[in-house]
Amino acid sequence: MDAFVPTVFELWQWTGADACALPLESDWQVLVGNEALRELLCLRERQPGLPLEFYRDQVDGVECCAVVLIEGRPAAVIWAYDWRHKGHFLRLAQGEAEVRGLYSLPEWRGRGVGTVVTQTMCQYLSERGYTQLYAIIHSRNFSSLRVFRKASFEKLVDFKRAALFGPRYSTTERTTVAPFEPLWRFLREGRGPKSTDIRVSREEPLATAEARETTIAMSKKVQDRRARRIR
Ligand SMILES: CC(C)(COP(=O)(O)OP(=O)(O)OC[C@H]1O[C@@H](n2cnc3c(N)ncnc32)[C@H](O)[C@@H]1OP(=O)(O)O)[C@@H](O)C(=O)NCCC(=O)NCCS
Repeated sequence: MDAFVPTVFELWQWTGADACALPLESDWQVLVGNEALRELLCLRERQPGLPLEFYRDQVDGVECCAVVLIEGRPAAVIWAYDWRHKGHFLRLAQGEAEVRGLYSLPEWRGRGVGTVVTQTMCQYLSERGYTQLYAIIHSRNFSSLRVFRKASFEKLVDFKRAALFGPRYSTTERTTVAPFEPLWRFLREGRGPKSTDIRVSREEPLATAEARETTIAMSKKVQDRRARRIR
């Protein structure tokens, strides 16, 4: 049900500034791109029942991810969606990407794996020519906000909408774009179109008045004819 209740999300953008350097522990392995996807396919065989975020390629058809492994087991994952993938929140332009599906397994949280996997993904995308990188974060997801700040993202704008539907934010127009504005307004404000929304043709009343005059003139003629016949 929450998917339909408007809530506040934040749009953040990668600045590319020096991210805070996190010490990589010796038993951590960080993979990105094809190498990460290949490893993920093997991990899923070895360790069935991983959370949905480890299966985003099958759900959304994305192919680009980064993973952190600790002692050979999955610890964190993140995915990249570019302008060719339809997003719930963003309308991206060519050359732009959104990082999404960040997840770290509960036993590894608070040790930096979320930040490392995000930094790795962004660096990789930037080296491959993606000029603008975005993330959408729920305004109350404090650990995620913290991760993106540490990975050198900064907040661009707040926007209120339901998780699964509502206007998308266009990164080029820098505003929300509602494809069905009247329907969206109706749902948001609980009213149908105002009388001022309906375009009234100016000719209409004039035509009605003319028709009425013609009818009066016709019935007068009939009455005169009847009166003449009686006489
Ligand atoms: C968000 C998430 C990926 C963070 O992963 P992580 O491995 O714990 O990330 P890191 O260890 O790199 O950093 C977590 C930061 O959040 C902080 N944090 C954790 N809980 C917090 C809270 N309730 N309030 C504020 N900060 C919090 C940690 O202290 C840490 O910051 P610090 O290094 O400055 O101390 C993980 O919690 C998760 O998978 N959550 C569920 C899925 C999710 O929300 N994904 C994000 C979608 S945008």
